Amino acid sequence: MTPEALAELAARAVADAEAAVDPAQLEAVRRRFLGRRDGELTRAGAQMAAAAPAQRAALGRAFNGAKAEVEAALDARARQLAASVDTERIAAEWMDLTRLDESWTPGRLHPITRVLREIEAIFRQLGYAVVEGPEVESERFNFELLNIPAGHPARDSHDTLYLSDDVLLRTHTSPVQMRTMLEQPPPIRIIAPGRTYRRDNPDQTHFVMFHQVEGLVVDEDVTVADLKGTLLTFARSMFGHEREIRLRPNYFPYTEPSMEVDVSCFLCGGAGCRTCHHRGWIEILGSGMVHPQVLRNGGVDPERYRGFAFGMGPERIAMLKYGIEDGRELTLDDVRFLHQF
Ligand code: DAH
Repeated sequence: MTPEALAELAARAVADAEAAVDPAQLEAVRRRFLGRRDGELTRAGAQMAAAAPAQRAALGRAFNGAKAEVEAALDARARQLAASVDTERIAAEWMDLTRLDESWTPGRLHPITRVLREIEAIFRQLGYAVVEGPEVESERFNFELLNIPAGHPARDSHDTLYLSDDVLLRTHTSPVQMRTMLEQPPPIRIIAPGRTYRRDNPDQTHFVMFHQVEGLVVDEDVTVADLKGTLLTFARSMFGHEREIRLRPNYFPYTEPSMEVDVSCFLCGGAGCRTCHHRGWIEILGSGMVHPQVLRNGGVDPERYRGFAFGMGPERIAMLKYGIEDGRELTLDDVRFLHQF
């Protein structure tokens, strides 16, 4: 064993350490040269005992230098490898947080929400306030104050869901008319959107829960002409500027006269198509002049004030506008359906 041999051994170890491509290879290099029992450098150290005493000091220095050099090379390579493992991991995990995922699709409003917002916007522009009433109602507000006493045939058509003897889920938004009249003096100009309930067997056009938008105007000198002008403006804003409306006589206990309002078909322009059943007209709402007794029930003097009222169904409007055949789709949360609108 000579200092030159030790230097040469160290140079080999350093070269091997630098060539190691991962921590496992580096560990093998460490064991080959510095392994406790049969590492090459370890064994060279053991041979020093056999050297002539005159050479021992020089050999010892050469051994210590070689060992330090090999250890430094192993440590340096270990740090490099650790750093490159980090670099690779960072490269693999890197993502551009500013990039939009291509599979991203924007959310959108439910067709019913859209129809409700449109109706609200139109009436707000006409100076109406938007008010709400409770979905759990008393028989008094849902029926009696609206001229529908117990035993009145109009009750049969409402298929009411009762919660107790005189508490029910409102079957229409008309009770909000009564609440509004009892709360504020005329002039009144409100719409009342909200959920309504009926014990119907659900089919394409009937649902246990659905929506209505009620309208009520009470003021001096209100006439059918105001009702017609208002609803014509509404129909044209909602369904297109060429639309016409017509009023057909009907019966509601809380209005006199009562009428149903048709809009000229916004799909065929009135020529006749499947949606309007070749009539050219589509019924969109019920309305009428508020019955004097209903005004009185609301604390309004019918000698001084007149009113008109109307009620419409957003489900029906959404189905007509968007060509939805089965309205039950509107109550499901199937995004494949909802993404079409
Ligand atoms: N409440 C009626 C219904 O549920 C709709 C209605 C008709 C409301 C005439 C009104 C009205 O305000 O004047 O079918």
